[in-house]
Formats: sequence, structure tokens, C-alpha cells
Amino acid sequence: MLRDPHDALWYNSVTRPAIDDGRIARTAVTQGKGCWVQDAAGTWYLDARAAMWNTTLGYQAERVVEAMCEQLRRLPVAQVIRYEEPPEVALEYARRLVGTLPDPLNHVRFGSTGSQMTSAAVLLSRFVRKVRGETHRTKVIAFTNGYHGTGGIASALTGERQMHALQAPLAPDVHHVKPWNLDALARMVDRHGPERVTAIIVEPIMGTDVLAAPENTLRQIRELCDRHDIHLIADEVTTGFGRTGVMSAMIDRQVLPDLLILGKGITSGYFPLAALVSTDAIFDEAIFRPEYVFPHGCTADGHPVGMAAGMAVLDELADGSLFAHVRRVGERLRERLRDQAASTGLIHDVRGAGLMIGVELRDGDERPGATFMTAVRRACREAGLLLTTTNNTLVLMPPLVLTEAEADEIVTRLVRALGTVTAGRP
Ligand SMILES: Cc1ncc(COP(=O)(O)O)c(C=O)c1O
Repeated sequence: MLRDPHDALWYNSVTRPAIDDGRIARTAVTQGKGCWVQDAAGTWYLDARAAMWNTTLGYQAERVVEAMCEQLRRLPVAQVIRYEEPPEVALEYARRLVGTLPDPLNHVRFGSTGSQMTSAAVLLSRFVRKVRGETHRTKVIAFTNGYHGTGGIASALTGERQMHALQAPLAPDVHHVKPWNLDALARMVDRHGPERVTAIIVEPIMGTDVLAAPENTLRQIRELCDRHDIHLIADEVTTGFGRTGVMSAMIDRQVLPDLLILGKGITSGYFPLAALVSTDAIFDEAIFRPEYVFPHGCTADGHPVGMAAGMAVLDELADGSLFAHVRRVGERLRERLRDQAASTGLIHDVRGAGLMIGVELRDGDERPGATFMTAVRRACREAGLLLTTTNNTLVLMPPLVLTEAEADEIVTRLVRALGTVTAGRP
């Protein structure tokens, strides 16, 4: 799978050949400000992928930096796993966080990554069944092309065929249906037997290709879950914390999950933090029971510096003005991109919500392949624009503090990049 050292670094392996490769040393990022990052060669880039879709407040968000430094000086480490002495800041932050969510989403567990929390959601759902004596109720249904992380159960939940092939054997009892095929979902539940299905996991807008659940689909999935007492897990690692112009894309559509997973923007990426929020029912039934302990937790869970960062992010979001800004600038960006569709000859569709935007490319009737998409990504970089690609879609997830002028700049640079890729073709 790894074709050259450049790809090796891209796939999270900072190997010796990758470090020795001159191209990578030059592209290493050395500093950031607002929506921009500078590389070692001195070039500034407009970061329309917000690091890894997570730096929602952009670089150098002073309030977050200050809160983290202050916490680091006061109590740099503590634990929430063993019985007593949790960091005070974790209690305060948990109260603040659930305060942003409706009843009965009142209970939160902390972790470091989205992958850890998607796995935890499944483990907790299964634990509820065990406590009830339903020991065979272990199956989880997810969507093809959904992304829920890597490692353990998270790899199985992620609906990518290639990842499954490369990581097999996977954690068992996870099944996939095509997004957003409600008939297939209902058939899958029937086929396995509702009494064996513990949970359905859903991203309200899938990050891969930016595919939003069609109108009413989330509500219908909720109804299916209610009919069979299946837990609905909302994975809002990407969509949460203002990315789509609201705190939670699922709850904004009036659909309440049983388990809600948050990550990425939770600290604007300034600290590795993720959260699993659960309902009163799950807490009462499975967690708040003297005879059982839900055996799940890692050393850094509830880390005080992460809690302080999370609190500062909530302070930034508190008055709702950033959400309104995201909706306005996101709409402008989508409109400007649509305006360019005809002139580029490549833009087939522009979709998404807030500042989670997919630009699907088509070359005539063809869906461009990986080589073409890599060429586009590299041409964007040459034009000073960083973005992500999934299949034949360009994914734009800039910091939420993107100005209107910067939104227009994204369009200018993207159009220039597409022009260089198509230049010289017959
Ligand atoms: C929807 C969703 N869930 C889970 C994850 C995994 O999060 P992490 O990379 O923090 O493990 C991601 C990461 O991109 C994601 O987009």
C-alpha cells in the first residue's frame, strides 16, 4: 500500500526513509496562525482541512492556550478511573459539556481519540445487554463508507473495504449496509434478529464524500431503533462542536441518540480529547450499579489539561455567534464554488452544511480515480491550499473562524489548481 516515502509519512509512519526524504522535510509545518500554516520552506498555506478536520478555532486561539497553560501549572496530571480524587476540572467540564446537550444526555465518559470512544460506545451498549442477561445481543450495524476510526472495534465499524482487507481478521459482529438505505437497514435487522442487534451507529453527515442523511432518515432510523429497543449511536466526532453550524447535527434535526460521540473540535484539536455521552437510562442500567463496574478506561482519560482546553472551547462557543458565522460563511463558500462549476468543467456537485463541504469532481461522465485526485490535491498545495480528498470528492473543513475573504481565497486557489491539472489536456 505504501508506494513512496511521501505516502509513508501520510499514513502516519514517520519512518527513516520518510524523514531522510528531502521533499518531506520541506513540507513539514512549523507554525500556524488563524486559518494559515507555514512550512519549513517558508510558504504559507490556507489550511482548508483544519489540521485533521479538528482545529475549529484555528491556530493560536489565545483563550485555549491560556487555559491549558494555567491548568498545566496548577495540576498537570490526574486520573478519573480509580474510585476517588478525580480532577476538579473534569467534574466542572463534564457538567458544562452535558449542559450544552438536552435531557436525558446527562452522562459523559472521556477518552483521547474518536476511535477509542466509538469502540467504547459499542462496549457500553453490549454491557447494557449483559447486565440484563441478554448475552447474545452483540451485533452492531454501521454504514458502508462510514468512518469511525481505526484499531479494535473501530476498524470493524469503519465501512472501508480496503481497510478491512488489510486489517483482517476484524472484531466480529459488525455488519454494514449502504448509506442511507432504510429498507436494507430494516432487512439487516430482521435477518440477524432484532433481539441480537444491540446498536446502529450513524454519522449524521458522513465525512467520507460528505454525504448527509436525507431529510427524515435519521428520524426513521431512530424509530427503527425504538421499535426494537436498539441503541442509536451518533458519531459526531467530525460534525460536532459547530462544524455544521450547530453543536450537534443529529440533535439539531430533533433526533436524540442513546450514545453520542464527540471529538476533534472538542478542544479545537489542542489536546487529544474525545467524549462518549450517554442517556440516564444507560447510566442507571449499566453504570450506576454497585454490583458491576463497566471495565473500560485508559490512563489519560479526563486529563486535566484536556478538560481545561474543552472548557475554553465551550467559552468560545457559548454565545452562539461562531455557529451563526459558520452557517453564513459556509453558505457563501458553497455558492461561490457552485458559481465556478461550469468554468472548471470538473465540479459536479457541491454539498454539505456549515463548514463541512464536499466538492464532488467528475471528468465528463467519469468519476476521477485516485491518481487524478492525488494530482488535484498536490496542485492545490502548489496553489497554497491544503485540503483532503475522499474517493472523487474534495473535502473542505477549514477552521470555523474562516473569514469571508478567506472563503473566497479558497475558491480562487481551488479554481487555479483545477486549471493546472486540466491544462494541456486535449
Ligand atoms: C466520524 C468519525 N468518527 C471517528 C473518528 C476517529 O477519530 P480519531 O481519529 O480521533 O480516532 C473520525 C476521525 O476522522 C471521524 O471522522
